[in-house]
Amino acid sequence: MNLSPESLAALRLDYAQRGLDLNELDADPLVQFRAWLAEAHSQKVIEPNAMILSTVSSDGQPWSRTVLLKACDERGFVFFTNYAGFKAQHLSREPRAALTFWWGALERQVNITGRISQTARDESESYFRVRPLASQLGAWASPQSAVLESREALEQLFAETKARFEGQEVPCPSDWGGYVLEPETIEFWQGRRSRLHDRFRFTRSEEGDWKIQRLAP
Ligand SMILES: Cc1cc2nc3c(=O)[nH]c(=O)nc-3n(C[C@H](O)[C@H](O)[C@H](O)COP(=O)(O)O)c2cc1C
Repeated sequence: MNLSPESLAALRLDYAQRGLDLNELDADPLVQFRAWLAEAHSQKVIEPNAMILSTVSSDGQPWSRTVLLKACDERGFVFFTNYAGFKAQHLSREPRAALTFWWGALERQVNITGRISQTARDESESYFRVRPLASQLGAWASPQSAVLESREALEQLFAETKARFEGQEVPCPSDWGGYVLEPETIEFWQGRRSRLHDRFRFTRSEEGDWKIQRLAP
């Protein structure tokens, strides 16, 4: 059954779980991020490492899609993808992006912006080696973002790839690998009652230290 326009307009939740104070935040936003990610994981948020990645095409059109965070360390936020698809085309012209995490069960959002670069080849290869076989084959079989004639055409490409690598280790394709987003801003958002949410934005200075500001919701 469809939601009526009235029901859709009336869908809302008052966020009441908890607040967020400046003194609860670690001075290093990456440490803080990892603590929130671990909490999302322990609270059984589905795919807590799923993040919306936004990039900008050459004509200034923003595009968003979900990718999985696979590492978060002093360099920043790492994900893996095809190096020839739409997002890679955007990033080769405009190597900046935004990431958004929404952990509904915790009434939390994290927004990140920064510059992006490809990970070192050996990091992409090491991660590729630990992916399940079907994902390795999929990376070879799928010309990410290309138009397909049909579902059968994709399955045919997968079957051909499977036959090609039968009995062998599947190498990492040259057009597949990681990106690391080096954060310039990281915002922590905690839902509160009456839409009076708590927001703290960390902004990195040229020297590399972080300034924190509370923002209006
Ligand atoms: C939960 C979830 C996780 C995903 N993780 C990835 C990922 O880690 N890497 C990836 O290339 N695509 C991932 N995808 C698919 C992307 O959202 C997207 O469809 C694909 O990367 C093609 O994007 P593009 O055409 O804009 O380049 C994921 C999708 C979902 C829903």
